[in-house]
Amino acid sequence: MTQLKNEAIKFAYWVPNVSGGLVVSNIKQRTDWSYDYNVKLAQTAEKSGFEYALTQIRFTAGYNAEHQHESVSFSHGILAKTEKLKVIAAILPGPWKPALAAKQLATIDHLTNGRIAINVVSGWFRGEFDAIGEEWPEHDQRYARSEEFIRALKGVWTQNNFSFDGKFYQFKDYTLSPKPVQKPHIEIFQGGSSRAARDMASRVSDWYFTNGNTPEELKKQIDDIREKAKANNHEVKVGVNAFIIARDTEEEAKAVLQEIIDGANVEAVKAFGDATKEAGAATTEGEGNWAKSTFEDLVQYNDGFRTNLIGTPQQIAERIVELKSVGVDLVLSGFLHFIEEVEYFGEKVLPLVRELEEAQKNQITAKSA
Ligand SMILES: Cc1cc2nc3c(=O)[nH]c(=O)nc-3n(C[C@H](O)[C@H](O)[C@H](O)COP(=O)(O)O)c2cc1C
Repeated sequence: MTQLKNEAIKFAYWVPNVSGGLVVSNIKQRTDWSYDYNVKLAQTAEKSGFEYALTQIRFTAGYNAEHQHESVSFSHGILAKTEKLKVIAAILPGPWKPALAAKQLATIDHLTNGRIAINVVSGWFRGEFDAIGEEWPEHDQRYARSEEFIRALKGVWTQNNFSFDGKFYQFKDYTLSPKPVQKPHIEIFQGGSSRAARDMASRVSDWYFTNGNTPEELKKQIDDIREKAKANNHEVKVGVNAFIIARDTEEEAKAVLQEIIDGANVEAVKAFGDATKEAGAATTEGEGNWAKSTFEDLVQYNDGFRTNLIGTPQQIAERIVELKSVGVDLVLSGFLHFIEEVEYFGEKVLPLVRELEEAQKNQITAKSA
């Protein structure tokens, strides 16, 4: 089922618009959630070969992060100071209604020459929804709502006199003007790993984001999505989360991982583990983003250690190409000290990835000749 692709694998990074970085640990981090830090990071990332940045949406964080900047406005702030980078703004159906999202994003698309994208997140943290007075539909209903949200966005972005009669949303003869710059519409990502998440991706999303995992486990998910998407006459690309620790030696990289885990904020990680039970582990199939996560996995809140991009540049580059061979199109990366590590990744790891990809391409061409 999995096919070797010739397209270069893409790289995104998590925007640290939430305080405390990407790990629930007391380890010292030079990462900062401020706007100034994020502008410098985005400029460094676009020079270093990153094509996308992903902002996070949090009204409250389930793992003790004290401060969170709002994702759509923060994304726009980053776009205003960069030239090539595409910024993916996370949006939660519930607080956002599709008419507002469609209008707001179309305007940002015009202001930034077609560089905004969205990540539709279906919600996992009940405490957050309760805190802001939003209702909390059960797991699969959250995805049913997200699917309508995406169908409505696509309709508004591509059609005049758009009408939609859904369970959650209704439109009557609505024409948005101006339409987005991007055609056919602004790129749509989604996050989640459960069956409901995969089914939705196979019907309506351009991209499926999933938590960190091994190539074997990812292959199962990807084969499932691609098979279903084919049956739906739809194509979906796949991005996987990875917390990258690249150092000159493997020992150094592993020591950093150990230090992060040893410094884990145990109470916050446990509380986060409990909160995730409202998400993936609570589905009837027992599948989903955090259904199999251990305590150590949860120290990076999207299982980023599991992808094992931890080692020397050569080891990491080889593992990235292995991810590509099971069907991954994009690596969504987190780092401990973002700016300097993004720079190191661009200088030391990315050129090796491109060399390995080139060698793989030549092999395929030689075989088929
Ligand atoms: C890459 C990625 C990014 C996500 N970003 C956010 C986010 O910013 N805010 C949020 O509340 N949930 C976020 N989520 C959570 C998902 O939308 C979803 O609620 C969660 O993964 C549980 O889904 P599941 O039970 O279907 O696996 C993200 C998930 C992934 C994989």
